[in-house]
Amino acid sequence: MAQNPDRRFRGVPGAGRPRRRRLLRTLRIAKPPLDDFDRLLDSEGQRLAAIHWTPARVCHRAAQLLDLGAGERVLDVGSGVGKLCLLGSLASPGQYVGVEQRHPLVFQARGLAARLASTAQFLHADAFDVDWAGYEALYFFNPFDEVRFSSLSGWQIDGSIRMGGEVFEELVARTQDRLASLAIGTRVVTFHGIGGPMPSCYQRRVSERFGEGTLDLWVRASP
Ligand SMILES: C[S@@+](CC[C@H](N)C(=O)[O-])C[C@H]1O[C@@H](n2cnc3c(N)ncnc32)[C@H](O)[C@@H]1O
Repeated sequence: MAQNPDRRFRGVPGAGRPRRRRLLRTLRIAKPPLDDFDRLLDSEGQRLAAIHWTPARVCHRAAQLLDLGAGERVLDVGSGVGKLCLLGSLASPGQYVGVEQRHPLVFQARGLAARLASTAQFLHADAFDVDWAGYEALYFFNPFDEVRFSSLSGWQIDGSIRMGGEVFEELVARTQDRLASLAIGTRVVTFHGIGGPMPSCYQRRVSERFGEGTLDLWVRASP
């Protein structure tokens, strides 16, 4: 039996009440059963699935919203085990690219790409070292919440990166700056947001609920 998730949030800085309630509900809803994709993962990947990987049905809808044509590319910022890219690539003529800072996750994603005959590509890098302007679309599944809530039991993927509220704020601010610098027409799909408001130059075109999360399509408009 899993630990009562209420205990996970005691004394967590930055976990305000509405946020805390949302996370608690998400944890309950997102608990196993694993979906078909998650069953392909190693045991560690499966352990992390409920919290960190986009649910398969959300991946399918995100791929529709990304709406990649032939020759277009999407960057999944923080691609984890590659779930969004792998599932999206199987149903799209576009190119899915994931960037992930943790090598074991990239290694697993590349292995799955070979196994599934997927065209998805995975870069092992800090997302901020990649030129986001080279992509027509980007995808975010709340990539920095791990940094903010790292003290929650089971939340942290591993101890390889800097954690804490200040790091979180810095990463969100850098993301907002990057997004604001992209070309008009750039499409961004977010699940559970980016950790802060989208820059005001983005217009929300679609917003759909999936459990406790919201899947949004944003398009970069004129300033
Ligand atoms: C919530 S998971 C989402 C995984 C995947 N996008 C999905 O939807 O299934 C966030 C991932 O972002 C990665 N990440 C966070 N910050 C990153 C950065 N600056 N550069 C590369 N990867 C990063 C984390 O290591 C983690 O694997």
